[in-house]
Amino acid sequence: MMADLSIEFCGIKSINPFWLASAPPTDKAYNVVRAFEAGWGGVVWKTLGEDPAAVNVSSRYSAHYGKNREVLGFNNIELITDRSLEINLQEITQVKKDWPDRVIIVSLMLPCEEKLWADIMPLVEATGADGIELNFGCPHGMPERGMGAAVGQVPEYVEMVTRWCKQNTKLPVIVKLTPNITDVRAPARAAKAGGADAVSLINTINSITHLDLDQMVAFPIVGGASTHGGYCGSAVKPIALNMVAEIARDPQTAGLPISGIGGIGNWRDAAEFMALGAGCVQVCTAAMLHGFRIVEEMKDGLSRWMDEKGYKNISDFSGKAVPNTTDWKYLNMNYQVIAQINQDDCIKCGRCYVACEDTSHQSINQLIDAASGVRTYEVNKEECVGCNLCEITCPVQGCITMVPQDTGKPYMNWTQDPRNPRAENVKVVEAA
Ligand SMILES: Cc1cc2nc3c(=O)[nH]c(=O)nc-3n(C[C@H](O)[C@H](O)[C@H](O)COP(=O)(O)O)c2cc1C
Ligand code: SF4
Ligand code: SF4
Repeated sequence: MMADLSIEFCGIKSINPFWLASAPPTDKAYNVVRAFEAGWGGVVWKTLGEDPAAVNVSSRYSAHYGKNREVLGFNNIELITDRSLEINLQEITQVKKDWPDRVIIVSLMLPCEEKLWADIMPLVEATGADGIELNFGCPHGMPERGMGAAVGQVPEYVEMVTRWCKQNTKLPVIVKLTPNITDVRAPARAAKAGGADAVSLINTINSITHLDLDQMVAFPIVGGASTHGGYCGSAVKPIALNMVAEIARDPQTAGLPISGIGGIGNWRDAAEFMALGAGCVQVCTAAMLHGFRIVEEMKDGLSRWMDEKGYKNISDFSGKAVPNTTDWKYLNMNYQVIAQINQDDCIKCGRCYVACEDTSHQSINQLIDAASGVRTYEVNKEECVGCNLCEITCPVQGCITMVPQDTGKPYMNWTQDPRNPRAENVKVVEAA
C-alpha cells in the first residue's frame, strides 16, 4: 500500500501537500524549476509588488543558535521581490506552462488602494497561476510604508482588501496572516468575512536575535546600525502550531482551509500541522538551510507513517487533533500521571533530581550507597504531581516515562470541580 499524498486545497489540486513559502527559495524561475525537479508540489512565489521593485540592504539575515551552532531560529530584514513585476509575471507564466501539474500561487503586496488591487488581478490571472496569496504579514520595512503587517494587524483592512481581491478575480484567495498580533482569530475571521478561500500562517515574528556587544549593535548589521527583522525556522513552530489550532477550533472560522507555515523541516512537523487542521504546509527556512531535497524525506516519511496508521489520504487525518485541543477549563482534573525512572537506562547524572528538588515538588530521592558511592534516583510516588519536568530534563530519551494512574475517578473538569469557587455547576460534554 502506498498512501496518496495528493490534496485539493480550496479547489487547487496538488500532487503533494508540500509547498515552498513565499521567500528566497521561490523568488525566480531558476529556483522554482529546481524545486519542482526536487519534488515540491507547489510554491508561493516571492511576493510581487508595484514597480519600481523594492531595494534590499546588505547584510540581511541573522540566526539564533543552539549550543552546537545548529540554527534554532532565523531572522531576516529582506523586503518583497527586488525584481520588476513584468519579469516575475513572465517567469511565472513560463514555469506554469512547463509544470502544469505543480501549484503556483502568486503572493501580492500593494498599498491599500482598490484600483491597484483591481488592476493587478488580470495580470496575475494571465500567467495561469492557481491562486493568489495576500501578504499581510511582512513585519519589517513594508509596514513603515503602510503595507504588510500594517494591514494584517487591522482586521477591518484585512477584510476590505480581501474583498477587493475577491471582487476582481475568480482565482482562490489565500490570506497570509501575521503572528504579530494579540489574537490571531481576529484577522482570520476578517479574512473569512471578506470572502477569503483560505488563510495561511504564520508569517515571521518581530525579532532581534543577538548583538555585537563591541559595536553595540544588533545583527544583521547594516553599516553601524540594525533594525528588527522577522523570526522564522524551527523556533517558531510552537507559536505557529498554536495559532493554526486557534483558528481551526474557532467556531467562526471552522472549515476555513488553512495552509500551515512556520518551522516545518520534516514530515513529522508537517503531519502535526495537518493534524491540527492544515490542509497543506509551506516551508521556507528549512529549505534555505538544507536545500530543496528535504522534500524527499518529507514525502517518504509522511507516506510511510500514513501506511503504518492506515491513512489512505491526507484528509483521513487532517484536523484529527483539533477536537482534542480544548480550553484549560475542560481538561480532566482527575487525570494523574507519575514519573517512572527506568534504572537500566539511567546514567545517574542527577539532573532529574536537581530539577525536581529545586523547582518542582521534591519528589525524587537521591540515594547514595555508603560503601561504593553509587547514586540511585527514585521517584517518590506520593509526592510526584506529574509535571513532566524530570522527563524533559533527562538526557536519556525514554529513561523517564510518565505513567497514567488508574484513579478510578470519573472525568471532571474545572467548571465542575467542587474546589472551584466559581464552579459553573453545568454538565459539560467530555472532550473527545
Ligand atoms: C529571507 C526571507 C524572506 C521572506 N520573504 C517573504 C515574502 O516576500 N513574502 C511572504 O509572504 N513571506 C516571506 N517570508 C516568510 C516566509 O514565507 C514564512 O512565512 C516564514 O519564514 C515562516 O516559515 P519558516 O519557518 O518555514 O521559514 C520570508 C522569510 C524569509 C526567511
Ligand atoms: S514529574 Fe515533576 S514532580 Fe514528578 S518527579 Fe518529575 S519533576 Fe518531580
Ligand atoms: S536525569 Fe535521567 S539519566 Fe539522569 S539521573 Fe535522572 S533518570 Fe537518570
